[in-house]
Amino acid sequence: MKKVYIETYGCQMNVNDSEVVLSILEGEGYALTEEMGEADLILANTCSIRDNAEQRVWGRIDRFRLEKKARPGVLVGILGCMAERLGEKLLASGVVDIVAGPDAYRSLPALVAKAAAGTPCLDTTLSRTETYAELVPSRMDKKGVSAYISIMRGRNNVCGYCVGRYARGAERSGEPLSLVREACDLFNRGYKEVSLLGQNVDSYLWKGEDGETVDFADLLEMVAAVSPDLRVRFSTSYPSDITDKVLYTMASHENICRHIHLPVQSGSNAMLEKMRRKYTREWYLERVARIREIMPDCGLTTDVIAGFCGETEEDHKDTLSLMETVVFDSAFMFQYSERPGTLSAKKYEDDVPPKVKTARLNEIIALQGRMSEKSYAAEVGRLHKVLVEGPSKRNPDELCGRAGNYKMCVFPGEGRKTGDYVTVRVVDSTPATLICRIEEQ
Ligand code: 5AD
Repeated sequence: MKKVYIETYGCQMNVNDSEVVLSILEGEGYALTEEMGEADLILANTCSIRDNAEQRVWGRIDRFRLEKKARPGVLVGILGCMAERLGEKLLASGVVDIVAGPDAYRSLPALVAKAAAGTPCLDTTLSRTETYAELVPSRMDKKGVSAYISIMRGRNNVCGYCVGRYARGAERSGEPLSLVREACDLFNRGYKEVSLLGQNVDSYLWKGEDGETVDFADLLEMVAAVSPDLRVRFSTSYPSDITDKVLYTMASHENICRHIHLPVQSGSNAMLEKMRRKYTREWYLERVARIREIMPDCGLTTDVIAGFCGETEEDHKDTLSLMETVVFDSAFMFQYSERPGTLSAKKYEDDVPPKVKTARLNEIIALQGRMSEKSYAAEVGRLHKVLVEGPSKRNPDELCGRAGNYKMCVFPGEGRKTGDYVTVRVVDSTPATLICRIEEQ
């Protein structure tokens, strides 16, 4: 049997795409290996979102070069967003035999065959229809508790700074019944949680031939109906598109987790406009207020970019004050990284000096640390239903798992096991963990 080794970088969608790729290759007689040294085919599923993500992969390509030297005949393939963006440039490295973009995975068997015969090759065709609908992804996680389901591919929103639209193509929504079937199938195999993935889940829209439509709230409801013991998560929501209908659907189903990842990017209206985010600070704060009105216990996390083009000290302060107003549970925080070909790169100068970007990012990180501390401390005394993920990293005698609001809980195992639901009470907190004890009920 031939062996394939796969490294995955970037977002959750890439993790799920690697599972699609594995499923396709298994059909060709490949088995997954975790040892690069024994692989016949080495794949890296890549990310282009920031320059440092790409630099990391170039570093790996250098590593793959050594592997090929030591074991001639090994094939190297680059998949995903970098493949889409850099195409020929990757082949020109002399290391890469196969380049396949996010919509081209069905052609992998043909690409591999051609490369094995000595011709490096590429497919970066973007599709308007490919959703890999009937393919059953080969799950790579070992715990068998939580799985991703990509409900859509690509996106139509063009955020000024982002390469996503160019690397992943136009938006397509998956067929709802096939997505529900996937959730059912996972549940029957013992999974307890599914995360519905899309770059903007709020624009999910399926139009049936008879004119019937299914929007994201409808889909959430359909997946939640699979079983009360299957938890449903989703990401990512888009501030201008998230509807009250979605919020009410969440609120009315106990098994839809009360957590929303709602990237704000900036608290300054001037920056939001230049970023082409299609909402204002006031709109964002209104959405947060609405979420909390409908679900007072809803977890809220975000993404923030420091040092976008033309960002003044005033704009930066607006971001800090928004973070202080909202008190996010946690955040992914980045320095702006100019990406070739994006609207921002064409239109605006990347003019915030690196030192200033770093200083602002550090301020944002420090503030978020205080906000996380506050948000986690407020949980002390509360009850949560936790899905056990496995032993805690720090102390193998303890278990860990997430509460519905996405906060990580640790607690003494007391005979519970991975995949169990456990009711816990929070007794203490750190800025990233709730310390709990099991509450007998
Ligand atoms: N520079 C820095 N951060 C970026 N992101 C997207 N594009 C860029 C960029 N060019 C961040 C945004 C987005 C997250 C996935 O990555 O915060 O929400």
